[in-house]
Amino acid sequence: MKSRVASCGLRVARKKAQPTADLAVTGALIATMGDAPGPRTGAAMRELGLVKGDVVAKDGRIVAVGKGAAKGFGVKRTIEAHGRLVTPGLIDPHTHAVFAGTREDEFELRNSGVTYAEIASKGGGIAKSVAQVRAASLKQIKDRTRPALRRMLEHGTTTVEIKSGYGLSLKDELKLLRAAKELGEEGPIDVVTTFLGAHEVPPEYRNDRAAYVRLLCDVMIPEVAKKRLAQWCDVFCEKGVFEIDDSRKILEAAKRAGLGVRLHAEEFATLGGARLAAELGAASADHLMAIDDAGIDAMRQSGTVAVLLPGTTFFLGLPRYAPARRLIDAGIPVALATDYNPGSCYTESLQVIGTIAATQLKMTAAEILTACTVNAAHALRLPDRGRIAEGLLADLVVWDLDDVRKLTYHFGVNQVQILAKRGRVTSGEEFR
Ligand code: NIG
Ligand code: FE
Repeated sequence: MKSRVASCGLRVARKKAQPTADLAVTGALIATMGDAPGPRTGAAMRELGLVKGDVVAKDGRIVAVGKGAAKGFGVKRTIEAHGRLVTPGLIDPHTHAVFAGTREDEFELRNSGVTYAEIASKGGGIAKSVAQVRAASLKQIKDRTRPALRRMLEHGTTTVEIKSGYGLSLKDELKLLRAAKELGEEGPIDVVTTFLGAHEVPPEYRNDRAAYVRLLCDVMIPEVAKKRLAQWCDVFCEKGVFEIDDSRKILEAAKRAGLGVRLHAEEFATLGGARLAAELGAASADHLMAIDDAGIDAMRQSGTVAVLLPGTTFFLGLPRYAPARRLIDAGIPVALATDYNPGSCYTESLQVIGTIAATQLKMTAAEILTACTVNAAHALRLPDRGRIAEGLLADLVVWDLDDVRKLTYHFGVNQVQILAKRGRVTSGEEFR
């Protein structure tokens, strides 16, 4: 206590000004995800930096973490966690969340034995979503995407990457990127945008793929970069879609335009996409169900993040999952994502993906949490989130459970109890 001499001559005690905070979560089991920024590889993917104590937030950032950390703060709102698990807000680094309609008919057809390729050859698949997007307005796309982002938030995701790719013309791709960007500005979920004009060859270029690649490189990519509608560029590198030479051309044009690059690689066929991603310094190579040893070796050397999407393999009913254990053992940082899209994986919930990663990729709950937080942040090059540490964004999830292993064990229900985005407690309600 400081003291001052009062005018009457007596020494009067004056209380030291107490620092204020907006939010404290107290008495929690905190998975801090460690002190250092990501990525995490190998055995370090199983280290959660568990701390019993409090998290304190002010002006959207974390200001204190640890035992008794909330004491000494004048806190506006305190949440008593009663020993519950608190983690960083989840980060979903791969979605195709802007589209204009669903494709449940194809899901039924696939489940009765029709293949993805057969559906696509009859005008279904990505082409159907393209027709729907071209017929929809910016407002219609935003109105149908907003509830999906709300569901993501309700299930614990506080940052999401969204790719375009169902427009496939300059006008329609710009419309999708604008929709994603404007929804991010509405908040509270943060949106990172990726240009995926190279998702498929549009019908009007079916007989001249080279002309569409030129349009992508010479017109669409420079325009997207100039308008600052995307930070990243992605390509669906796949047999019969964009193969290695086209993918390289497109990603090199993206780098010239100042965009970061990432790649859909080795989803169905082993083409060398993982090696290409490594060679170009891509932030991530995604899917990787068909990756080979050369791809693993190249990614290990480049530090490219493997973004795995086991929900897609599951939803397509396919037998071969990405070799997560080999990737982790090789020292490649692994992240997980939903791939949320109307065709190959229609779920907003990273919790569901976590359980599929546990049973099919044989990942532990700790590895899965690392993959959905600190490693996902690294996949998007966002060092300001994905961990619980002073100075980072106060994106926090209070889970209705007392043991990390229950995150993936209890499935098909939403285990989020309370969520704070940038220190503000939020429920999905406000987006309805
Ligand atoms: O990531 N691989 C390409 N794109 C999506 C599927 C798109 C669709 O079927 O609409 C994916 O799986
Ligand atoms: Fe995808």
